[in-house]
Amino acid sequence: MDNASLSGKPSKVAVPSTEDIPEALRETQFPSQERRWQRVWLVALLVGWGAFALFVGLWFASLSQSSSGTMAQKNETEPIAKLSQTPTEAVNTSASQPDIILGQAGHFAYKEAPVQDLQSISVDNRIKLRKSAAQQFNAMVAAARAQGAILVPISGFRSVAEQQHLFFDIKAQRGQVAAERATVSAPPGYSEHHTGYAIDIGDGRVPATNLNPNFENTAAFKWLQANAARYSFEMSFPKNNSQGVSYEPWHWRFVGDRDSLETFYKAKKLQKN
Ligand code: DAL
Ligand code: ZN
Repeated sequence: MDNASLSGKPSKVAVPSTEDIPEALRETQFPSQERRWQRVWLVALLVGWGAFALFVGLWFASLSQSSSGTMAQKNETEPIAKLSQTPTEAVNTSASQPDIILGQAGHFAYKEAPVQDLQSISVDNRIKLRKSAAQQFNAMVAAARAQGAILVPISGFRSVAEQQHLFFDIKAQRGQVAAERATVSAPPGYSEHHTGYAIDIGDGRVPATNLNPNFENTAAFKWLQANAARYSFEMSFPKNNSQGVSYEPWHWRFVGDRDSLETFYKAKKLQKN
């Protein structure tokens, strides 16, 4: 009996207090509502911090990876760029544009052929080409003649001084400004004729078409169109050529050996004719 029973006072309803529960079991079996919430918050806080730390860690990792990737790329591309951009190539890349532009026409600079490399292709010895081009031209003339077309050389190698006369004096005679003249004649230093690989060709039966777009209607031109490639000659200035030079069906160039090919194409790899 407890004191309350003995005193006759109604005893209190027995409410289990925490003291009645073995200490080891108190928290686990009967956690208070407040403690439960504290625990939930604690877990949420820990999970949140963990996620945040993970996120920050990954972010830093990706940052350092991308910057080291950029460095690696730089280190790879720089030597390649240095290797591929030798001075010659750098010059060639920029030289894909004409060296001189006058009005609508763009021209490339050409060196004069060495005199010892030239060979006559005319009876009077006045017209010359580089030896390699001369041999193929002569073979082409013979083949054309055998098939009824008469190819006549009009102009071959020209020195810069000769081109100077042609360009300035004739321009003055015709009352043309330089830009107009440049579409039909290259300025001195810029003519394909300097190379010794270019030749103006006429038709022996219709000389009136010499150096005239009407040359395209001649048997000689038709023969050239069908056969010149067999002798490594090509038309330099077809209609609407990218250099903006007038259509010159009479002007052909030899591209049948390494030197001639490089002369016309190495510096103009982006040019579309
Ligand atoms: N007649 C052309 C433009 C040249 O001389 O190259
Ligand atoms: Zn020409």
